[in-house]
Amino acid sequence: MKLTDETAVIPELIRRHLDIFMCPVCGGRLKVPDDHSTMECAACKRVFACDQGIPLLFWPTGRSSKADVTDLVKAFYEETPFPGYDDLDSPESLRAKAENGVFARLLSGQIAHGSKVLECGCGTGQLSNFLGLTWGRSVFATDLCVNSLRLGHAFEEQHGLENVCFVQMNLFRPVFRPEVFDFVICNGVLHHTADPFAGFQALLPSLKKGGFVVVGLYNRYGRLTTDIRRLIFRVAGDRLTSLDPRLRTETLNDARRRAWFRDQYKHPHESKHTFGEVLRWFDQSSVEFVNSIPKCVASESFSPGERLFEPNPRGTAVDRAIVQAAMLLTGGREGGFFTMIGRKRA
Ligand SMILES: C[S@@+](CC[C@H](N)C(=O)[O-])C[C@H]1O[C@@H](n2cnc3c(N)ncnc32)[C@H](O)[C@@H]1O
Repeated sequence: MKLTDETAVIPELIRRHLDIFMCPVCGGRLKVPDDHSTMECAACKRVFACDQGIPLLFWPTGRSSKADVTDLVKAFYEETPFPGYDDLDSPESLRAKAENGVFARLLSGQIAHGSKVLECGCGTGQLSNFLGLTWGRSVFATDLCVNSLRLGHAFEEQHGLENVCFVQMNLFRPVFRPEVFDFVICNGVLHHTADPFAGFQALLPSLKKGGFVVVGLYNRYGRLTTDIRRLIFRVAGDRLTSLDPRLRTETLNDARRRAWFRDQYKHPHESKHTFGEVLRWFDQSSVEFVNSIPKCVASESFSPGERLFEPNPRGTAVDRAIVQAAMLLTGGREGGFFTMIGRKRA
């Protein structure tokens, strides 16, 4: 069947991998009708619309509205999608930006050919689009914020990245079948949810046994300097933004500056976590610790040639306390962020 506007329909990558999708409400099989305009559940018959190539598979978490922060967080990011794309107008500029941060370069270089990758809470999808610049993998970028997804999808479409697609999804209501992904990445997201541990557990069913989960979170100690700056801004107003090292030193345009400032200092909901806490999450969820940034052992440092997915020691409580104290002392340029990598046990 000839379709008039290929950009407005369910993307080809999704149609090709339809067997990995499920209904966020009942877990039934999803179908795409002949005109490719929607996704429909074969079991409960719900129809999910498609917004210019983005299937809208979001479904509410289902907590009492008091405990849940999903709507609040969604409204926040719909107003200011994060991070901004403004000065990224080509695959080359995206690659240059991503490779500036060692982690994204290592990640992309170490994801095996043929892998299926899920990013939960992709925001504007810069990491997913960067990963999609490498041929031979399939990247599924999901977030609850449609305005963010639109920016990611526009970049992907404009530059013909055929192995990346964007889907609206609440990570607490996954739309993917069990054990389909080799990598699940959730960077800077769980600390903006009402129940980060439950969010972590919700990432795992769609990960294959032996697959890797990558989780980035705010650190309780590393984030203290940001907390202090937030207090200062509250008392003194927003004039002293140069106290933030990123706002002070980087040549960010106004939109990116605003997105960073709001995300760091005006967020309606964030929590902070420790290495020990995430190791407990791993232990309780049959996930084996593999690696972290920074390293869990104080005497070891993260190298530019790091093998991300090779096992590392988890350190002692004292080791991890020293590492977190060092994060505090170095001032948390990235907002006191740490990343943990685990492997789902067979
Ligand atoms: C700080 S941004 C991080 C974006 C991106 N991962 C990055 O590192 O640049 C947090 C993102 O998490 C998304 N998010 C928060 N709660 C979510 C949920 N329950 N399901 C899916 N996405 C969620 C927000 O919409 C937002 O885009």
